[in-house]
Amino acid sequence: MICVHDRYISNTSNLCRWAFSTYNRDMTKKVFVSRKIPEIGISMLKEKGYEVDVYMKDIVPDQKELIHYLRKKPYDAVLSLLTDKIDSAVFSASPSTKIFANYAMGFDNMDVEEAKNRGISLTNTPGAFADCIAEHAIALIFALTTRLVEGDKYVRAGKYKGWTPMNFIGGDVCGKTLGLIGAGKIGSKVAYHLSKGFGLKVVYYDIKRNEEIEMGSGAIFKETIEEVLKEADIISLHVPLFDATHHLINETRLNMMKPTAYLINTSRGPVVDEVALVEALKNKTIKGAGLDVFEFEPKLAKGLAKLDNVVLTPHIASARESARNEMARMASQNIIDFFEGKEPKNIIK
Ligand code: GLV
Repeated sequence: MICVHDRYISNTSNLCRWAFSTYNRDMTKKVFVSRKIPEIGISMLKEKGYEVDVYMKDIVPDQKELIHYLRKKPYDAVLSLLTDKIDSAVFSASPSTKIFANYAMGFDNMDVEEAKNRGISLTNTPGAFADCIAEHAIALIFALTTRLVEGDKYVRAGKYKGWTPMNFIGGDVCGKTLGLIGAGKIGSKVAYHLSKGFGLKVVYYDIKRNEEIEMGSGAIFKETIEEVLKEADIISLHVPLFDATHHLINETRLNMMKPTAYLINTSRGPVVDEVALVEALKNKTIKGAGLDVFEFEPKLAKGLAKLDNVVLTPHIASARESARNEMARMASQNIIDFFEGKEPKNIIK
């Protein structure tokens, strides 16, 4: 039995209980949670009698640090975050871990093939927060078109000296065309709200047609990304990050967009070539961009933060109590199901 006295580990089962733990060594499931998450997830695991250790530092641990903590005990499960690189180095460092339950919808931080080869299960939390991501994408659209952030800074800086006809002229949303790249749950909600509420025409590209979005929002399927880029006034990205979607929006494709168009990214940073985007924004190839995710997160591409025609948020689209609680619940339930011999609902296949 290993007793962790590290001040950064909170052992929520209140160990060290030497005798009990020694007795229980092979029976008690050990779970490592790689950051503080909503209590509901931790309680679910504790209620099952699992020994739960939570990494308590208020930083994003790098992989070396994660491995350092995983080596402290033979963990049976790891509840991981999208910032944890879960690959062969982690699998080898923690050979007892048979399930990594990602507290995220995306799982581009996990080496799925390697996990399969090693017989390790991976899970995620899909659908826990489609509504908030859609709302955040829409908020970014309106923040850009109304020049909300610029205006706020201007007023706070004491620069507002009275109403003028030509100050902060923005862009229209009503009656414009929304272009979706990716028409799953989140994209469909963006389409629904903007078509029903603001009368936008919706065009979309996805690897396959989605009849639901067509029925719900009158969205029109386009055979190519290029057609969407050329036609839409607002492009919103809703694709997972795979090799095939890395730099999906690159210099060539940015050049296809209208000079009056806006690009919104709430999916994954590397879907957009951020250096090319900075150039496109500087050169006014496109009108503006709203980004919740960044290619080199948490760093920004050089020059991005200096631009006025961008609105930037720190990957907070899912930062709602309801969504985060649901993510914690789903991730913990995936671990519980696994330990109880059932296939977790959100197993990544
Ligand atoms: C957030 O970006 C997630 O994938 O959960």
